[in-house]
Amino acid sequence: MLRLLLLALPCLGGSVLAFPAQGPGAELVGIVGGQDAPAGQWPWQVSLRIFVLEHKWWKHWCGGSLIHSQWVLTAAHCVVPEDLEACAFRVQVGQLRLYDHDQLTKVTQIIRHPKYNVSLSATGGGDIALLKLEVPVEISKYVWPVPLPPASLSVPEMSCWVTGWGDTWTNRPLPSPWNLQQVEVPIVSNERCRREYQQVDMPITEDMLCAGAKFQSTCQGDSGGPLVCYMKDHWLQVGVVSFALLCALPDFPTVYARVSSYVSWIRQHVPLQP
Ligand SMILES: *[C@@H]1O[C@H](CO)[C@@H](O)[C@H](O)[C@H]1NC(C)=O
Repeated sequence: MLRLLLLALPCLGGSVLAFPAQGPGAELVGIVGGQDAPAGQWPWQVSLRIFVLEHKWWKHWCGGSLIHSQWVLTAAHCVVPEDLEACAFRVQVGQLRLYDHDQLTKVTQIIRHPKYNVSLSATGGGDIALLKLEVPVEISKYVWPVPLPPASLSVPEMSCWVTGWGDTWTNRPLPSPWNLQQVEVPIVSNERCRREYQQVDMPITEDMLCAGAKFQSTCQGDSGGPLVCYMKDHWLQVGVVSFALLCALPDFPTVYARVSSYVSWIRQHVPLQP
């Protein structure tokens, strides 16, 4: 169910577009059971912003990750409907507390995965998108692209981390000063995840990855944000937050787009950072 808002977006020509005030219930999940992230711990985390005419400001909309100095990885359901232009979005990099000295970067191109089906939304798969930034961001200790895994990576049942500024419980937004949240979450095998989601008739496919545990991860992350694992001496982004059934339902882990399934598609558009 989409509640539509009519917004005049700050695009050239002042076009008026409709877009969902909130996606269908399964998306836009937030961190549950997390803690404040320290500065510089997750330098690839970005805040994807959308312009809200009513308040004339760039509101936090989704998470994302810097994968190159000029490219951000996020969820396709964060950038729908498809006629929503790139100028409707901006990106904030290197921020620990949301809205603290914003310095937004313009988005000039949105590439949604061709498999993403708007009517099926996140649960249909292909929930991944690339955003090209107007200019490369300056790389620093606090702004750093996250490495992507090889296409062959099989993620073992290990502990990983997800980060975001999303709600901390159902309908409970992250309180001011909106410090980035982090939570450690166990990877759940697709087999186990499929068994849970079968009960609600949601197919879990091979290009999805599940992670979460009771009171930690049933609602963790912020749509589009990164799930990272520490493997072989460095962090790799293995997932993009896609959907969860409900916050804090113990048996239902959060479902991510499995990054290794999409690496070759990403590489068609995003060069390797020299
Ligand atoms: C998207 O999903 C809907 C509902 O299952 C289906 O009817 C439609 O054909 C799909 N669209 C594409 C382009 O695959």
